[in-house]
Amino acid sequence: MRLLAGTAAVAALLLVFATPAPAARTGPVELGTAIGVPTLVSDPDPRYRDTARLFDALTAENDMKMYYQRPTRAVFDFALGDAMVAFAAANFQQVHGHTLIWCNDSSTPGWVRNGSWTRTSLLAVMTEHITRVLNHYRGRVSTWDVVNEALADDGSMRDCIWNRVIGGDWVEQAFRIARSVDPNVRLLYNEVRADVPNAKYEALLAMAGDFKSRGVPLDGVGLQFHLSENHPAQAQMEEAIRRLGELGLDVHISELDVPIWYLGPPTIPERLALQPEIYRRVAAACQAQPACFRITTWGFTDRLTYRCCNAKPLPFDEEYRPKPAWAVLQEVLRPGGPTRPIAPPPPPPPAPQATAASTGVLTVAARLKRQRLRTLLRRRALVVKLLLGGTDTASVRVTARLRGRRLASAVVNIAAGRTQTAVVPLGFGERRRLRRARRGRIVIEAVATDAAGRSAKARAAPTAPR
Ligand code: XIL
Repeated sequence: MRLLAGTAAVAALLLVFATPAPAARTGPVELGTAIGVPTLVSDPDPRYRDTARLFDALTAENDMKMYYQRPTRAVFDFALGDAMVAFAAANFQQVHGHTLIWCNDSSTPGWVRNGSWTRTSLLAVMTEHITRVLNHYRGRVSTWDVVNEALADDGSMRDCIWNRVIGGDWVEQAFRIARSVDPNVRLLYNEVRADVPNAKYEALLAMAGDFKSRGVPLDGVGLQFHLSENHPAQAQMEEAIRRLGELGLDVHISELDVPIWYLGPPTIPERLALQPEIYRRVAAACQAQPACFRITTWGFTDRLTYRCCNAKPLPFDEEYRPKPAWAVLQEVLRPGGPTRPIAPPPPPPPAPQATAASTGVLTVAARLKRQRLRTLLRRRALVVKLLLGGTDTASVRVTARLRGRRLASAVVNIAAGRTQTAVVPLGFGERRRLRRARRGRIVIEAVATDAAGRSAKARAAPTAPR
């Protein structure tokens, strides 16, 4: 009898120790935002970059997804991801990785979606992908969405190639692989429309609880918060965050946007007037729950938003002016004023006016690898290598021409003696022209102008990839 009682006491003790301590952030709630990297690196208008610097953390809206980084099984394309990581480092910002595996066939590269796989061979693809990407960004990306959107709205497993071929344990496998590659990065599961306790949320909580109890390495959960017609009460949002926190998980409000479409009254100004109240509720819910470490808005300017067409869902307007929603985020999350060391703004581009200081002969060379139409459309950008000769910095205007007509251009400032990548963004209209032209050849023209006002010109036609 005594022995039994002793066993019970040990079991009880073990239970106490096995229950994870609720997650708790140690500093203020961080504010993050999602970035369109082609715009970030090449928009001649500095307002996009200047506004992006106001956030503590950046997520690539698309450019780190498998669809974009892994056009074929053999090719990993980290150019845009690296550009964002470099921008973040220069501005003391964290980087959130989004996403290693997304259960969404239409956003999965064709070579995966249309391949004929067995469980073993698709697990090998998954292992290869997670390993290469985590290794590439090791130490530079602090958190990753390992899996995105694996659940259906009714709480069952969502249909996608990963689930069909590997089976119901595919999510667990992805997390185990990720942990085996990088023991230090924080591993998150990200989900849409599970922002408050509903059927999908309960399934997510059950999965997370199961993972925790079996030692599957899950550190946190992203609740997307692409809000629609339901504007949850603060208490509901808090409950969702709190219950995840009780499992020892960190919570990221990972893709917040609040379209004004659903905000009652008929006119846009009336709807806009109601928007800050929704932002306030979300911010207050996160602030009140210690598990909630960051709110990321899905973009920041109404000029460039996933929700499109008059949704005006973000904290800055089309002209990058802060809206009341931004003021509310600051008021709730930064009551004592800004918390982040903001890097000094980068030096302005060299004015192309004569100085005596410039020496050396200015030359510029450009190289454009032959790229498939598919790759250009997927990247939404042309990547050009530039090399400047001389001793100074110069500003280089890169113009892409299609059948002699200007297609797109970008201006970059580069230092002499270093090969530098220039990214020329391709907007919707440009991509449509490219699709129509099919076999048209793109020619690049690069005109460098240095501080002495001298210029040099180069042309490049596509060369075969080396
Ligand atoms: C969206 C991007 O915002 C769009 O630009 C892209 O065309 C499709 O994907 N949930 C997610 C995000 O996890 O990756 C999605 O992003 C929006 C929904």
